[in-house]
Amino acid sequence: MHTTSGNSFQLDSDGIDPNLIPKKKLYTGSEIPCIGLGTFGSDKISGGKVADAVKGAAAVGYRHFDCASVYANEHFIGDSLQDLIRGGIQREDLWITSKLWNDKHGKDDVIPSCEKSLKDLKLNYLDLYLIHWPFPNYHPPGCDVTSRSSHAKPYIHENFMKTWRQMEKLVDMKLVKHIGTSNMTIPKLSRVLRDAKIKPACNEMELHPHFQQPELFKFVVDNEIVPIGYSPLGSPNRPERDRTPDDTVDTADPVIVEIAARLNIHPALVCLKWAVQRGQIPIPFSTDRNHYLGNIKCVMDPPLTDDEMQAIKSIDKNCRLIKGQVFLWKANQNWQDLWDVDGKITPP
Ligand SMILES: NC(=O)c1ccc[n+]([C@@H]2O[C@H](COP(=O)([O-])OP(=O)(O)OC[C@H]3O[C@@H](n4cnc5c(N)ncnc54)[C@H](OP(=O)(O)O)[C@@H]3O)[C@@H](O)[C@H]2O)c1
Repeated sequence: MHTTSGNSFQLDSDGIDPNLIPKKKLYTGSEIPCIGLGTFGSDKISGGKVADAVKGAAAVGYRHFDCASVYANEHFIGDSLQDLIRGGIQREDLWITSKLWNDKHGKDDVIPSCEKSLKDLKLNYLDLYLIHWPFPNYHPPGCDVTSRSSHAKPYIHENFMKTWRQMEKLVDMKLVKHIGTSNMTIPKLSRVLRDAKIKPACNEMELHPHFQQPELFKFVVDNEIVPIGYSPLGSPNRPERDRTPDDTVDTADPVIVEIAARLNIHPALVCLKWAVQRGQIPIPFSTDRNHYLGNIKCVMDPPLTDDEMQAIKSIDKNCRLIKGQVFLWKANQNWQDLWDVDGKITPP
């Protein structure tokens, strides 16, 4: 099967040459592969298994890996990355993202948190470091959606900018090449763009056919920020805490199913082809070789037709799956309060 023979890395014969994978250009001129591998095991998949998938995915052509300290597996993934680099993959040919967790916002913890991720990932720089959520709230990993922290706080722009200044410092220190945001809204991002010395290069956001976020997507692209789409398959194995009875299933949508039937592929691959063609970077998670191989191969196959792209555009259901309930900071709030749905930052 895959990876290192002796000490040298080999691409699997059925893999895709990473040089052929399309890239998107960031405002800095750097290029990021148009698909990456997610690494959040949804509290179910062990760090070792995810780390094996990172090596297996590299062997079929992936060079972009979406990591985060809160996934609690960066030290496992670090071993895989070290093997890949020792085996001959050039560090500059990899794109490694990590993220600052919510309890590390502020003046003092950003740089040490990034240094910890670098140590765990066995790297001396990151390609992209994101503020994972704009809310500086700690909640225990795996806690229930009804869990509320007595220290929970809303988005306070001045405080967010204190964190952002430290993110900018990481660029000055050459520990990270790019910085970015995640789980943002237009009103929050507008303020960050107004006040940043180094503007976000990427914004990671939930994006799948039933949750297309057209306004935010346009805002991000218009501001030369590259959108990275998480849960691109509708996160079928997400933790129980992230499920509600109203959630819909992208891969069961008749439009997606019909296109999949025409192409004789799994509906998941239609979601990924749509994502890349629309211009976001999907980061599907998988530890199944057939799945992650199929996921990267499908973006090299002939594109969806214009009619198919239009048909998928019309099935948006504004169905947010990762609602973020644990970040609410007051009693009797609704999760919509986190997402500034009326175009203004929800007041404290
Ligand atoms: N910034 C944020 O706040 C944030 C939030 C959520 C997620 N993320 C990132 O986004 C990544 C992806 O999101 P996600 O993990 O929520 O969901 P996802 O990628 O939409 O779905 C992953 C699930 O789909 C299955 N799958 C993958 N390829 C498949 C295929 N070709 N056919 C059928 N099933 C397939 C996987 O199972 P198998 O393993 O069996 O293939 C896995 O359980 C995460 O891992 C994480 O890196 C970021």
